Amino acid sequence: MHESAWMPTGLDPDVPSAARVYDYFLGGYHNLAVDREFAHRAEQTMPDLPLILRTSRRFLRRAVHYLLEQGITQFLDLGSGIPTAGNVHEIAHAAAPRSRVVYVDRDSVAMAHAALMLEGNDNAAALRADLRDPREVLRHNVVTNLLDLSQPVAVLMSAVLHFVESDVEAQSIVAGYRTAIAPGSYIAISQGTQEAAGERGEQVIRLYDQTDSPFTARDRGRFTRLFRGLDLVEPGVVYVPQWRPESPEDVDEHPELSCAYGAIGQKPLY
Ligand SMILES: C[S@@+](CC[C@H](N)C(=O)[O-])C[C@H]1O[C@@H](n2cnc3c(N)ncnc32)[C@H](O)[C@@H]1O
Repeated sequence: MHESAWMPTGLDPDVPSAARVYDYFLGGYHNLAVDREFAHRAEQTMPDLPLILRTSRRFLRRAVHYLLEQGITQFLDLGSGIPTAGNVHEIAHAAAPRSRVVYVDRDSVAMAHAALMLEGNDNAAALRADLRDPREVLRHNVVTNLLDLSQPVAVLMSAVLHFVESDVEAQSIVAGYRTAIAPGSYIAISQGTQEAAGERGEQVIRLYDQTDSPFTARDRGRFTRLFRGLDLVEPGVVYVPQWRPESPEDVDEHPELSCAYGAIGQKPLY
C-alpha cells in the first residue's frame, strides 16, 4: 500500500517512530524509509532484535489468554502500537465475543490505522492519548463508553514502559491506573531489560535516542517495583518466554536473551 493511503498529515518524515519501527520488525507495512533505515541499523547492531520483539508479542497473547481464563472481558491496551497480527481484540473476541477492548497510543499512525480497522466494531475502540496521564485516559469518553470501570478490567502495558525514563514516573503511572480500577482487576506489564544484552544492547538503547521514544531498560528490581500494591500472579516476574509458556516455541534454552521481563499483578480484592 502506498504511504499516502495511510500516512496522517503532520508526521515528521525524518524522525524514526518507535511504533513504526516495531511495525516493520513484526512484518507490517505502516513504516517509512527513515524507520526501515533505523531498523536495519538496530538489527545490524543486535541481529536477534526481530526475534526479541516477536517473543515479546507472544507474551502479550499469552497474557490475554490468561486474563480471559480469569473471566476478564474488558481490556485497556496502553501503548498498543500499530495494529498487526494477533491484536488484543482479535484474541479476546475469539474466546469471548462480547469482550470490550480500548486501544490507546500516542502515535498518530497507530491510532489512525486502529480506527480504520475498528470501523463498525461496537466492542473495540481506539484513543490517541498519552498513557502517562491515567486520569485523562480513564475519564475519556472513548474509554468510559466501552469499559465499565466499576467492574474488573485488565490494563495492558506491553513493551511500552521502557519509553518512560524515570522510575518514579513509571511507578506513579502504574499506581494511577491501579488506584482507579476495580478490585480484582489486573495489570500486565512487559518491558526491556539490558541485564543479558551486553554491549550490543547498550548500543541499541543509545540508537533509540534518535527516535521519538528514547529507551530506558530496567533490571529485575526496578521492573518488580512497578507492581507495588498489586499481588503478582504465578510465576511472578520472569523473562517473557518463561511466563506461562503454551507451546515449545514459547520457551527457549536462554530465556534471558529475550531481553524483556513480564509479569501480571492483580489489585487485591480487600
Ligand atoms: C514497542 S510498541 C508495543 C506495541 C504493543 N503493546 C505490543 O506489545 O506489541 C510501543 C508502543 O508504545 C507507544 N507509546 C510509547 N510511549 C507512549 C505514551 N507515553 N503514551 C502512549 N503510547 C506510547 C508507541 O507509540 C508504540 O506504539
